[in-house]
Amino acid sequence: MVEKNEILVEIESLRAALNYHNHKYYVENSPEISDYDFDTMMRRLTELEAAHPEYNDPLSPSVRVGSDRTAEFQSVEHRYPMLSLSNTYSIEELSAFIERIEQQQGVTEFVCELKFDGTAISLTYEKGRLVRAVTRGDGTMGDDVTANVKTIRSIPLTLSGNDIPELFEIRGEIFMPYASFDRLNSEREAAGEPLLANPRNAAAGTLKQQQSAVVAKRGLDCTLYQMAGDNLPFTGHIENLEAARRWGFKVSEHMTLCRGAKEVIEYINYWDEARKSLPYPTDGVVIKVNNFALRRSLGFTAKSPRWAVAYKFKAESALTKLLSVDFQVGRTGAITPVANLEPVLLAGTTVKRASLHNAEQIAALDIRIGDKVYVEKGGEIIPKITGVELSERCAQSAPFEYITLCPECGATLTRFEGEAKHYCPNQSGCRPQILGRIIHFIRRKAMNIDGLGAETVELLFENGLIADIADLYNLRACDLAVLPRLGEKSAENIISSIEASKSVPFARVLFGLGIRFVGETTAKYMASHFKSIDAIMAADRVALQEAEEVGDKIADSIIEYFADPINLRIIERLRSAGLQFEGEQVALSSNILEGKNIVVSGKFSTYSRDELKALIESHGGKNQSGVSSNTDFIVAGENMGPAKLQKAEKLGVTILSEEQFIEMIGGGNALQESPSAPEPQQPKDEQVIQTSLF
Ligand code: IVH
Repeated sequence: MVEKNEILVEIESLRAALNYHNHKYYVENSPEISDYDFDTMMRRLTELEAAHPEYNDPLSPSVRVGSDRTAEFQSVEHRYPMLSLSNTYSIEELSAFIERIEQQQGVTEFVCELKFDGTAISLTYEKGRLVRAVTRGDGTMGDDVTANVKTIRSIPLTLSGNDIPELFEIRGEIFMPYASFDRLNSEREAAGEPLLANPRNAAAGTLKQQQSAVVAKRGLDCTLYQMAGDNLPFTGHIENLEAARRWGFKVSEHMTLCRGAKEVIEYINYWDEARKSLPYPTDGVVIKVNNFALRRSLGFTAKSPRWAVAYKFKAESALTKLLSVDFQVGRTGAITPVANLEPVLLAGTTVKRASLHNAEQIAALDIRIGDKVYVEKGGEIIPKITGVELSERCAQSAPFEYITLCPECGATLTRFEGEAKHYCPNQSGCRPQILGRIIHFIRRKAMNIDGLGAETVELLFENGLIADIADLYNLRACDLAVLPRLGEKSAENIISSIEASKSVPFARVLFGLGIRFVGETTAKYMASHFKSIDAIMAADRVALQEAEEVGDKIADSIIEYFADPINLRIIERLRSAGLQFEGEQVALSSNILEGKNIVVSGKFSTYSRDELKALIESHGGKNQSGVSSNTDFIVAGENMGPAKLQKAEKLGVTILSEEQFIEMIGGGNALQESPSAPEPQQPKDEQVIQTSLF
């Protein structure tokens, strides 16, 4: 037998040792060697690998440091769709779920798990080696983020054990522990970069970073909670996950087998409190039937399994002192009050600022400087103040006086009828409004001018190179290249994307102008109705309202916009620069939904609610705001309102998932051939998908 090359022997032994210590440190939390020794071994391995590319292994522990290469994510289809879970905040609903199953099936084993608050991932292993990591995406197709996932140290690259299936998928949550989140935000603060809202957004954003070396540094973690494959070793969920733990995966040690609603509720009550001391974010408990045969007989609705449910914890709140209120001025001049708070720990992160919405809300809650206020984190990015602890109010406190002058330019603020917000009317002389308009104009959904971010816009503005959106089209690469922090290459990229924006369709140009209340969808409807900016400018208040979605408020705002000679001048300059001021956006793609009344409700994954509504219009259907007896069907997303759901069920209205709807209109793109609408499919509750355990 030929002796193995010494170098290869050393490489292999380093890899084995590093894999072992990596698992000890990141999965078991019980390191056996010092960080220094670990780093020394890793350095030796990377040196040897660099010198001997012939021994390259894509799953070497050295991949954990990531690379600087910019990655594009390939879209790949999930072998089993990645469904979501039905949610409840109510113990009664949860008990009903458990009792319903028990009534059908007798005594049932339920597995209770923490609901980790991060971003879902599906990992495929073949012959014990990680071959692919894919994000949830729209549930059917996700992004291949394997290179990034390999840098997450708690995810095993290779497995060990004798009962590992040849091929299987394991799914879990990639999350950012609070410690990593706080470290990342302090670094960003020091670098003057915008802070990340919460660990969930930070995890999802990090996973989509284009350089895996960046991901490697961010301290992501991953816990696995679901397995699928043809040859899993056991017929129960918990037994398989325990096997997965033996093979090297990080599986939560807080997963517990429960029988009956009482035990499940005990688990929930315990974790509702205990989770506050966990080092990572959780937002509920997931309750799953353990046995796979039973899962199969329970089946799925179109969106989620009938054998599992997520109980969500109520938003946490904290009490802290209101120190002062700042007023921010948005691009339309809208004033937003922001509370400065005595820093307080809330849901694992420190909160210093909270939104106060508007003067009315401050008055309604009678919020005063110096008050002890309740702060809550809902689904929103910014925490909000939900109330005042009056028992702690200081005797000398005075009612809050709302500002009357713009904090940026000193102009007297105005209010529009029916609007809760105050506005600064000084559109052309108020700095944040000018900058905000330019930043809005270059947005992806508007002119999509790549490479030009808020910071560069500010820089150009400060240097006198731009004062409004039309000035962008006078920029030359040599103007940009002289700016600090901007190289020649980026300057050229900016110029070419400014050039490319000249072919952006009219509807998006209209949206980009930033007319108050004219959002993306309204702009599409207007472009489709009027077909040119000249027709819009010529329209009076009544004519404007002939366009879908345009009511009094929007019509007035449009009239006001075009009455301003400064705006007219900008439009003329944009027109001579070659921008599109004609052409319709929402052409009728098909008449497949002709005569159909449709309600869109809930949150969606692929399209926004407005986009779905626009699709309905463009296929000849009519959007309804509420369910009635003439509703043909509902496109239901996550968290559809319970009232709507109840009414729909009572009236027997068909409920379609986003995917079913998109399929119905032919994949979301224009569909010319279909002459008539197919019959809507079965209501979601009658759909049983039996193909897999997901
Ligand atoms: S099971 C078929 N278990 O919650 C459902 N999900 O809305 C498979 N999540 O997309 C998911 N912790 O990202 C499951 N212990 C857990 C979970 C969990 C967090 C997330 C997951 C999923 C979402 C469901």
